[in-house]
Amino acid sequence: MKIAVTFSTLSGNTALVANDLIEYLENKGHETKLFDAMNVDADQLKEYELVFFGSSTYGDGELNPITEIFLSTADQKNHNCNNTHFAFFSLGDSSYPIFSSSGTLSSERIAKMHGNIIEPILQIDGYPNQDTFQKCKQWAETILDQMK
Ligand SMILES: Cc1cc2nc3c(=O)[nH]c(=O)nc-3n(C[C@H](O)[C@H](O)[C@H](O)COP(=O)(O)O)c2cc1C
Repeated sequence: MKIAVTFSTLSGNTALVANDLIEYLENKGHETKLFDAMNVDADQLKEYELVFFGSSTYGDGELNPITEIFLSTADQKNHNCNNTHFAFFSLGDSSYPIFSSSGTLSSERIAKMHGNIIEPILQIDGYPNQDTFQKCKQWAETILDQMK
């Protein structure tokens, strides 16, 4: 399957998860591409059947500002992603009052652009470690199962 993994990160944590995920998907034989949301236009994602969309949470339970710019730019262009399925991984820290809301916020925005949302959203707490990577791979399998 043609799969993209996009990430937006301020301090590198979401990139760590994205890099591990793309390696896993590649090893499974998928045709993959990794995108930093800083350098990608939503139109470039149209050719992918499935996009794993990663973002971290900032402010008071808000989107990472890079994600915000990516989604606002797509909105302004009336972007339509009805041919693509999206699965969201969301980084945060449970010491904040609103935990890891970026996944839900992103999925609501993508749904308005007619993207096909696959659940569940993966919420990641704190600095990614081996346990995180393992959980992410298990989650990716549940997403891939739904694409069959
Ligand atoms: C100023 C600041 C605000 C944050 N606000 C939240 C928040 O509201 N909710 C949350 O779950 N995590 C929050 N976080 C935690 C980050 O989402 C978390 O550290 C994440 O792993 C960062 O990922 P990144 O390095 O990919 O940007 C905040 C972190 C900082 C530094």
